Amino acid sequence: MSSTDREQWATRIGFILAAVGSAVGLGNIWRFPFQVGQEGGAAFLVVYLAFIILIGLPAILVEFVIGRRSERNPIDAFERLGYRAWTIAGLLGVLGGFIIMSFYSVVAGWVTRYTLASATGAYFAEPAEYFMDIAAGTDALLFHLLFMGLTAIIVGLGIQRGIEMAVKLLVPALVALMVLLIVYGFTLDGAVQGYAYYLSPEPGAIAANWTSILPAAAGQAFFTLSLGMGIMITYASYIDDERSLVGDGAWIVGLDTAIAIMAGLMIFPVLFTIGVEPGAGGAGELFIGVGGAIAGLPGSRIIGVLFFGTVLVAALSSAISLTEVTVSFLIDRFGLDRPVATGIVAGGIFLLGIPTALDLMVLELYDQVTAELFLPLTVFLLVLFVGWFYDEALDEVSKGVSADWLPGAWLWHVRTIILVVIGITLILSIQGLIETLPETIEAIELL
Ligand code: TRP
Repeated sequence: MSSTDREQWATRIGFILAAVGSAVGLGNIWRFPFQVGQEGGAAFLVVYLAFIILIGLPAILVEFVIGRRSERNPIDAFERLGYRAWTIAGLLGVLGGFIIMSFYSVVAGWVTRYTLASATGAYFAEPAEYFMDIAAGTDALLFHLLFMGLTAIIVGLGIQRGIEMAVKLLVPALVALMVLLIVYGFTLDGAVQGYAYYLSPEPGAIAANWTSILPAAAGQAFFTLSLGMGIMITYASYIDDERSLVGDGAWIVGLDTAIAIMAGLMIFPVLFTIGVEPGAGGAGELFIGVGGAIAGLPGSRIIGVLFFGTVLVAALSSAISLTEVTVSFLIDRFGLDRPVATGIVAGGIFLLGIPTALDLMVLELYDQVTAELFLPLTVFLLVLFVGWFYDEALDEVSKGVSADWLPGAWLWHVRTIILVVIGITLILSIQGLIETLPETIEAIELL
């Protein structure tokens, strides 16, 4: 397709909702509260919010600039712009996405399981024990297969449009259910403790733990905004030139962040009420926290099915965007048919995910390595490229923007502060991984 007749987003809201559909998923609802719990509560929230605004939003614009200017996917974009060597950044993103998808599917499998288990009330009596029973083993493997199969069918048939439509209806439904659960949490005995833990940082907590909080907050910000994988490059390749990238970016970041904050408000009051210490549940935080809340509500079975069912659709729409990047790469590069490419990718993702379905520690390891290493490294390369090598970034970001000072300020920020902060984050991530790796490997009980 020549650049003039390339398809474009029909409406501004259509693009924003599609990008929000990719961004809102397990990252907001499952991963965010789990990170808050592991990093000690409110101190993490503060650093995370600062990171989202100061780094996440400008970094989304970096992907938008590459995407709209090249009108290509992340692998072909650099060649099209005349910088072939940078293709390596696109490849790294695709690889990271492939690994993320392998455990994302296992977590989405848990969600599938909980949708069914809500109907029978299986986890109501003992939310924490139930999670530990089903999180790893044959059951988890089976639901991983099921979810990956479902994703593959949708991507293989090329029918993601239908899902995107469903997401537009379900995001509001999800928000409504979350509001309900938040209001319920407010009435619980543990509410005050829960809010204090989540919202009020202890003095000195950030300074004392910043070397682990910063890489965790950065990883969470990239993960939740679908950054570092070229998803936003691909979406932006369809935005027309009159539109302000800055305005669209702000909407996407704002909606995504609001949903994450709500997930925390929903979960922490419950954890304190049922006596589960935040962080102790690890990757189970969402299931234990919300499971406990739902169990206490009238009409709990229906609410449970609706809640986990909507989370499942949100997870599916994100999973599609993750899988699609690798599939379209195989189609474009090697001329494979869509069903064949999808079969190869889905099969590979399933196999790679098997260890994460058998042991929670492995899942947390995959998760940490991708979020804290692959994503920031890819974003670092993209920021370096746009800030220092690509001459036309300023021109691209200025389109449709009325505040004259803004594009220049953005570019300066990208070239200096963002590059330095992500650079420091990467060093801390690598240090942290080296320190914890031996312990983690020892704790793995696969064999
Ligand atoms: N952002 C999604 C979530 O929060 C997950 C996701 C979709 C993602 N595409 C991505 C994460 C690309 C990293 C990179 O659930």
